[in-house]
Amino acid sequence: MNPARRPMIAGNWKMNAGGADGCDLATGVARVAAEHDSVDVLVAPPYTALAAVSHALSEDKSDLAVAAQNMHFEEAGAYTGEVSASMLKVAGASWVILGHSERRQLFGETDELVAQKMTAAFGAGLAPIVCIGELLEEREAGQTLAVVTRQLKAVLDELGGNPGLGVVAYEPVWAIGTGKVASPEDAQEVHAHIRGLLSEASADLGRDTRILYGGSMKGTNAEGLLGQADIDGGLIGGASLKADGFGKIIEVASKLAQQEKKD
Ligand code: PGA
Repeated sequence: MNPARRPMIAGNWKMNAGGADGCDLATGVARVAAEHDSVDVLVAPPYTALAAVSHALSEDKSDLAVAAQNMHFEEAGAYTGEVSASMLKVAGASWVILGHSERRQLFGETDELVAQKMTAAFGAGLAPIVCIGELLEEREAGQTLAVVTRQLKAVLDELGGNPGLGVVAYEPVWAIGTGKVASPEDAQEVHAHIRGLLSEASADLGRDTRILYGGSMKGTNAEGLLGQADIDGGLIGGASLKADGFGKIIEVASKLAQQEKKD
């Protein structure tokens, strides 16, 4: 297995678990993750819990990584309600999710804005997980590959400048929070397309970039998805809010990684 593509299982808590409950959840996840060292596990609490979760994990001597769910691209200034990349670093985050479909759809984030945020994230030493994916109407109109191509091309220069550091998450919007998961074959088709675009940009980028699947992944459907050649992990929303359910996905990823080592 290419070590740059170690499996990654990331929990996106969205607007949940923003206080002491977040610390309990993170330490519960850390206990499971500690038993599976072939998988990179990270949790993305809301801003309010970032520092407390990071602190609780370091007290626990856990190497669980912490991600933010969003950020502003400016370093500081008069941007009421916003948080910069360097502030996230200080709070203990090493990753940041960018361009999640909820940000794009509910908060009007454009491809250009996501690219600006990515430049700022790399500049501050945060590794981005950039989310791309099509709407249901776009899938039905046969535009899936065109949409992900457009969204990825907007950030290719930033990714290319930092090969292996950034992660791409393919999240079909119709599968997020709906219980409708993409079939492993449909997901693999899009992942292979994404890897092809990364490889066209540079051989290193194609070889070393992890591409996660997101959208109603859970313990019972993770194996089929994570077993695909170009699916390097998962970005999990609903099923990341309980340590045991999230732990099941980590276990599946770990089992597949062990099998791959033996093959
Ligand atoms: P879901 O969310 O697992 O609840 O579908 C995934 C995501 O939005 O990242």
